[in-house]
Amino acid sequence: MNKNQTVASNPNSLLRAERISRTYSDGSVTALDDVSLDILRGQYVAIMGPSGSGKSTLLNLLGALDRPTAGEIYFENQPLSSWKNLDGFRSHKLGFVFQSFYLLPTLTAVENVQIPMFETSLPSSERVKRAKDLLEAVGMSHRANHMPLKLSVGERQRVAIARALANNPALLLADEPTGNLDSRSGAAVLDLFDELHQNRGVTIVVITHGQEVADRAERVIWIRDGHVLQDGESHDPPADFDSFRVHAKRETRA
Ligand SMILES: Nc1ncnc2c1ncn2[C@@H]1O[C@H](COP(=O)(O)OP(=O)(O)O)[C@@H](O)[C@H]1O
Ligand SMILES: [Mg+2]
Repeated sequence: MNKNQTVASNPNSLLRAERISRTYSDGSVTALDDVSLDILRGQYVAIMGPSGSGKSTLLNLLGALDRPTAGEIYFENQPLSSWKNLDGFRSHKLGFVFQSFYLLPTLTAVENVQIPMFETSLPSSERVKRAKDLLEAVGMSHRANHMPLKLSVGERQRVAIARALANNPALLLADEPTGNLDSRSGAAVLDLFDELHQNRGVTIVVITHGQEVADRAERVIWIRDGHVLQDGESHDPPADFDSFRVHAKRETRA
């Protein structure tokens, strides 16, 4: 098949996966199998599915942390394989938020937020100012000089979100960002996502086990066994997903 023929380039396309697959262990494990999807600029998308269904694999591919074994990913209709410097691509275009925060324990909150800015030519005074502004935006200015271990887990995630926003990314990719949080801190993180989406126009793709997370999104992609089962505005799982509901309840922290 001529690849160009399959590319329906929507001018609003921010990140498009075109028939991507990812196999591991010399092809014996297929984590993701022929997945196509198009994330449009400004969308808030949730990805749901059971454990082991390929959600993190998909997010890592979308975020250029990993390469597909087949297919291509396009950012603003340009193939990622044409970017010479994927580190630069990630640090300038994307922000990442993970379940376990990954803050550097020996740096203060305001220093952690500056980490992605070291890839840029910003002078240090600008970096610090920007980091402080971001901490303010996530409600964490009063903890700017705290070490991560002195922060609650909810506060750590808010610092991690400020860090993800350091270079004003077009797209925020989050892998179970509320998975380690109690329900109150989780809701605060989700309120922050809403604010970023609505007021800053940030495009958000969030993997979640929690229906309360997916309910905030305007589009939900359901995956199982490396396949997209359903993709659209409906927040209800696909018809044969009853077992998943049970699973989701068990894995979601109250
Ligand atoms: N590095 C790896 N090597 C081999 N298998 C892997 C690797 N990473 C993930 N897998 C397998 O790929 C499948 C999808 O994993 P993952 O994307 O982490 O799922 P999810 O995030 O939905 O829980 C699982 O069967 C997992 O065991
Ligand atoms: Mg995962």
